Amino acid sequence: MTEFYAEHVHNHIHADPEQTLQKYRRRITSELTKFGIAVEQLRDKTILDIGSGWQAIVFQELGCRQIYHLDINPKHVDFLNAYLAEHGIRNITSEQADISRSLGSAHDIDLAFVAGVYHHLADREGFLAQLLPNMAKDSDILFRVYRAGTWSRWLVGMLRTASIGRLTPAQLLGAYRLLHPYGLDNQFVGDLIDDLLTPQWQAFRPQQFIVDAERLQLQCQQCPAPAFDFDFSDRDENFRVKWHIDDPGAINLATQPMATGQAHVENTGTAPQITDLADKLTELLASLSNYPNRDAATILVALYFLVRKHHGVDAYRGQIADASANPELADWRIAQLQASLTYFRDWLSR
Ligand SMILES: C[S@@+](CC[C@H](N)C(=O)[O-])C[C@H]1O[C@@H](n2cnc3c(N)ncnc32)[C@H](O)[C@@H]1O
Repeated sequence: MTEFYAEHVHNHIHADPEQTLQKYRRRITSELTKFGIAVEQLRDKTILDIGSGWQAIVFQELGCRQIYHLDINPKHVDFLNAYLAEHGIRNITSEQADISRSLGSAHDIDLAFVAGVYHHLADREGFLAQLLPNMAKDSDILFRVYRAGTWSRWLVGMLRTASIGRLTPAQLLGAYRLLHPYGLDNQFVGDLIDDLLTPQWQAFRPQQFIVDAERLQLQCQQCPAPAFDFDFSDRDENFRVKWHIDDPGAINLATQPMATGQAHVENTGTAPQITDLADKLTELLASLSNYPNRDAATILVALYFLVRKHHGVDAYRGQIADASANPELADWRIAQLQASLTYFRDWLSR
């Protein structure tokens, strides 16, 4: 995990710095808007950001008073510190830390922006034990987390069983270039490597964050979102919750196991209507251990085209280029996966 993101994921996704900054500006504005937080409310606040460092830059641009940035990967910290020196920025502190063990010098945090991180932590209780005492009175933690029961999270959870501990980024990239020799979709490739190879990967349900907030006696605000166990149509693959902390001194973490903590096991689960398909997929993925890495990588990347959109050809949404998405999306996806499995099973059995 220490090196994975900077070297194999963010080098693709963040290939163009100006585009990247624009993307993070849009993302943060949109996340804040979803919770009704106005930028003006952040002006005198202390923010905690974890990750690539771009979010910290945007919070600084928005006029926040102090920003603490942490990442386990020294490359992200080095990148941000170089950016701060170049732009003469003094109110961001960037430090390397495993957030499950330490928050570095971060303290009195008004807003912790925990986007795209919680589901990658092996020790989530450890992180909360560090975070909660360092929150200020009357503060917020904003989580953006992988949503279990959506199409992409379900399929990725399955595909990972054949990629983790076996394939390398170079093998996935080689297969991608074979299947798509027309140019590189950087976001797609970064997501492909992230999804299939990141060592820690969990998908959660909003209810688990509500239960944990109740146990910790915190207020929990969920962004308006439909309730479902499984929905394979065009649902957002992330969900958001905000925990509000009146008084960090009053929180007792040790009381009960966390619903989102280390005891949490669901990574896939299967929708009742596709148990046969899930069984077939499980069988195909298990059988890949009998074939060379090159074959496994080719089949996994081919199936990954059903996980998310790609410039130009978009199997994920059943559409070509800018045509409108397939109206029966869930059915289309299931039928497409079914057809792919039959094809690959026949191919491998010859
Ligand atoms: C999906 S990435 C990016 C998340 C964030 N939304 C961003 O774009 O900046 C997850 C990040 O979490 C970092 N990370 C993972 N585990 C960590 C840990 N235990 N302590 C600190 N950082 C961690 C990774 O190095 C990576 O930069």
